Amino acid sequence: MRVAALSDFLLQRIDRGSGMPMNRQLYQVVREAILERVMPVGLQLPSSRDLARELKISRNTVTHAYDQLMAEGYLETRKGAGTFIADTVPDQIPEADEASAQDARQASSAGLSERGAQLIRHAGAYKLQWGAFMPGVPDVSAFPNKVWSRLQNKHWRRSRPELLTYGHGGGYLPLREAIAEYLRVARSVNCTADQVIVTSGIHQSIDLASRLLADVGDRAWVEDPCYWGTRNVLTSLNLKPVPIAVDAEGICPGNADLRHPPRFIHVSPSHQYPLGQVMSLSRRRMLLEYAAKHNIWVMEDDYDSEFRYASRPLASLQGMDTHDRVIYFGSFSKTLFPGLRIGFIVVPQALADSFATGLSDLYRCGQSFTQAILAEFMTEGHFASHIRRMRVLYAERLNLLLEAIERNFGGELTISGDNAGLHLVLLLPDHCDDAALCRAAQEQGIIARPLSRYYMKPSRAKKGLLLGYACVPHAQVGPAFDRLSQLIRRHIA
Ligand SMILES: Cc1ncc(COP(=O)(O)O)c(C=O)c1O
Repeated sequence: MRVAALSDFLLQRIDRGSGMPMNRQLYQVVREAILERVMPVGLQLPSSRDLARELKISRNTVTHAYDQLMAEGYLETRKGAGTFIADTVPDQIPEADEASAQDARQASSAGLSERGAQLIRHAGAYKLQWGAFMPGVPDVSAFPNKVWSRLQNKHWRRSRPELLTYGHGGGYLPLREAIAEYLRVARSVNCTADQVIVTSGIHQSIDLASRLLADVGDRAWVEDPCYWGTRNVLTSLNLKPVPIAVDAEGICPGNADLRHPPRFIHVSPSHQYPLGQVMSLSRRRMLLEYAAKHNIWVMEDDYDSEFRYASRPLASLQGMDTHDRVIYFGSFSKTLFPGLRIGFIVVPQALADSFATGLSDLYRCGQSFTQAILAEFMTEGHFASHIRRMRVLYAERLNLLLEAIERNFGGELTISGDNAGLHLVLLLPDHCDDAALCRAAQEQGIIARPLSRYYMKPSRAKKGLLLGYACVPHAQVGPAFDRLSQLIRRHIA
């Protein structure tokens, strides 16, 4: 779009008699045009001077609108080249794109708030949750149903009304005790049961911790790339996620970042999501010292550290913290099954009562009955033995996938994160359109997630595929990858 065409377009949409400040109108018109894709990703905008001249408004007004759009991630500047529309659309697959664009159109006409519409527009949850190669989903078919149903029947027979009413405080106490015991032994977390707050999963944990520890507009560092859910929960609370680069040692803030301490830092130190590296000891120390010095909360997302195949699982960051700055998040989504919707937060002692009150007041929680079953499932040893069994199963599936990659590509493509978790990342050359590749795969019934969509900063985005293997039966791993590899070849070419 040339300057003249762009200014014509803007002039048609700007209403000088509306009484709304011009900078606000300009901001809104450009923002809508970006969201409706009338102004496509990568489009260069005219300089503030040129646009101000064309629109016959002050340059300050244009700069103001540009700055706001920049702060919200709609625009980016490229050194020496100018201002461009940024690629801010997060993890979505194209069908979801169209569907959520429709949702967003309906949403704004249905009177949703700006943040509500933004959440719908950037929705990352995927309809298909099962099959080759769905990342992050354990083999739910291997869950010990019989044991669970025996415990469930036992609890129904006992019929205790307090398990069927609203929950209160931080969750069912015997479960908090069982989790604390497990975390002390398996994850070197320093905690007692009253520091454990039982939630409906890490999504809710991030929501609760953010509401209790940060205010609207506060900045939160997130790893770039990171889990789409973290980003969406933060933005829906009107917090500002600041994407920080990661390297082989984990989150890697530069000097410019360090000069502006955020309210909190969200990290996945045991297994960076989605790339899979472990945060080094020196980076952990740096982070904890920085957090202590500036009173920053560090949110440790320990979503799948139980599954480490070549070595023992690593100790938590929380266990190294001597200044009570770490808020630890864990979940049963990967160890048992995601539909269980039970996770937990470990908070410093001084916050324990506030979190327990916040939890019951905000979400009016319950599930004490399920929590009672889970507590017994843990204390009777079924949880530990299920993890041991699944670790063996997933290691075998990982090896089958690695063999299939080797068979199809030899050493041609780099693999990241292949020693832990439920997925690996197959890196692709920069010219490859990983989102288009995932669309094509989906048409053939194969699920893969495009790595580039996990980045907030487009200039950093690497291309690749997230391939989950945990929920793929042994016999399907090789054949499914062989089919996928033909598509990969075509896209690389
Ligand atoms: C890094 C990360 N954190 C959190 C979650 C979600 O956890 P939960 O199911 O407990 O909400 C996921 C799910 O895939 C994840 O990958």
